[in-house]
Amino acid sequence: MDMNTAPIDPGFRSDVLRCFEEGSHAIPARWLYDRAGSELFEQITELPEYYPTRTETGLLERYCGEVAQLGERGRAVVEFGSGSSTKTPHLLRAVDIAAYVPIDISGAFLADSAAELKSQFPSLPIYPLEADFMRPLKLPVEVEDMPKLGFFPGSTIGNMIARTSVDLLRSMRETLGTGSQLLIGFDRIKDQQKLVDAYDDSAGVTAQFSLNLLHRINAELDGDIPVEIFRHIAVWNDLYARIEIYLETQSDMTFTIDGRKFGLSQGDRLHVENSHKYGLRDARLMLRAGGWSPLREWSDEQDFFSLILAEAHPYRHAP
Ligand code: TRP
Repeated sequence: MDMNTAPIDPGFRSDVLRCFEEGSHAIPARWLYDRAGSELFEQITELPEYYPTRTETGLLERYCGEVAQLGERGRAVVEFGSGSSTKTPHLLRAVDIAAYVPIDISGAFLADSAAELKSQFPSLPIYPLEADFMRPLKLPVEVEDMPKLGFFPGSTIGNMIARTSVDLLRSMRETLGTGSQLLIGFDRIKDQQKLVDAYDDSAGVTAQFSLNLLHRINAELDGDIPVEIFRHIAVWNDLYARIEIYLETQSDMTFTIDGRKFGLSQGDRLHVENSHKYGLRDARLMLRAGGWSPLREWSDEQDFFSLILAEAHPYRHAP
């Protein structure tokens, strides 16, 4: 399917109009990922400043053998928001698995990456699931009786506010069941300049990525936003331990979207993304709040990124 000729998502239109009508000036980050946005994000993952992808991949290469030893054989791996499944082969190679269930909201992505994995792992049964993983899901019947290992890399959890993260962890527990395990990536708190640079690179790819959202609005919602008057900014919010991404206007402006007139003043900011970072034990507490007991944590030498393996123990009364 060509995403550029795909029908316009009514959710996109209502989120964008709400942003300007109610003056919330926030647009959900998932709209950053149209085709152009997804391609720019792939480029981001290779930037010298963007350490998360390569650090996490290094951890997966090194420690998936231990992940295998800490769980049962013959498990079904369930990946939440599998996207292009680029990190999955490390896990599939190390862990003796019986089936792979990639879950993604984009059916087009899902079909492509399932086909790609099929060629690398011809004997592995793959059951793609096109769904919104933020809610509890019914897994394919074929994997019902297998032990489950959830996989949620990329510190994607960091793009949610804390209460949404906990809701998601609880719903993953419901999807996977008591006794299952979860392997999840968390980006760590580190030198602030290092964090800001990762979200505002010198080549300007990240700026292009976030500004693409405005181009998308213009193209899909018949807008005339003067994109060149906005600049991309990344700021560290220490109170919330997160990088915040904004598009900031450099002068007053008026524009139309879908026949409606809007105005912004110089210095107004559109909030397009949060990326929460975690201190030494923060992620473990978050997991426990969502019903997951940490079993092991692995980090790189610089503590830039952590992989945590957790288990859904049966609930019991304190202590
Ligand atoms: N959400 C991812 C992250 O927090 C992807 C990302 C990288 C991103 N750079 C960005 C999202 C800039 C919005 C803007 O790492």
